[in-house]
Amino acid sequence: MIPWNSLMTAAREAAQRAYIPYSHFPVGAALLDADGQIWTGCNIENASYGLTNCAERTAMFKAVSEGKRTFRALVICGGTDVAPAVPCGACRQVLAEFCPPDLPVRVIPLREGDGVTRTLADYLPYSFALSAGT
Ligand code: THU
Repeated sequence: MIPWNSLMTAAREAAQRAYIPYSHFPVGAALLDADGQIWTGCNIENASYGLTNCAERTAMFKAVSEGKRTFRALVICGGTDVAPAVPCGACRQVLAEFCPPDLPVRVIPLREGDGVTRTLADYLPYSFALSAGT
């Protein structure tokens, strides 16, 4: 059982901590690990724009740096009902490093609503792995 409500609340709380002086576009993420712990993240921008860290990568790096490597679900919150924030290409590849292709990824609007749940493989089919083709 995935605690979707807890994950959605955690993601929305994390979005409030977004550091977004340039885009003014808050994103929050909540990543559930195999032990049932929730790791949150927000986007952290930089005056050198390309150094921005996305919310889901923040959450993943926090978890991995604390020794967690198995994950069960991810919620990303940002944008609107019509155009919710979906994981960017770089984040999809980073997620694929540690998460199974069937990881449920739910994208929800910043303010309210239960969003849409797809799998990581829906977002990134044929992800790159060093073992592929060797
Ligand atoms: N952003 C995320 O945090 N996650 C995504 O998957 C999409 C984009 C952030 C990066 C930047 O701070 C802002 O959204 C606008 O691109």
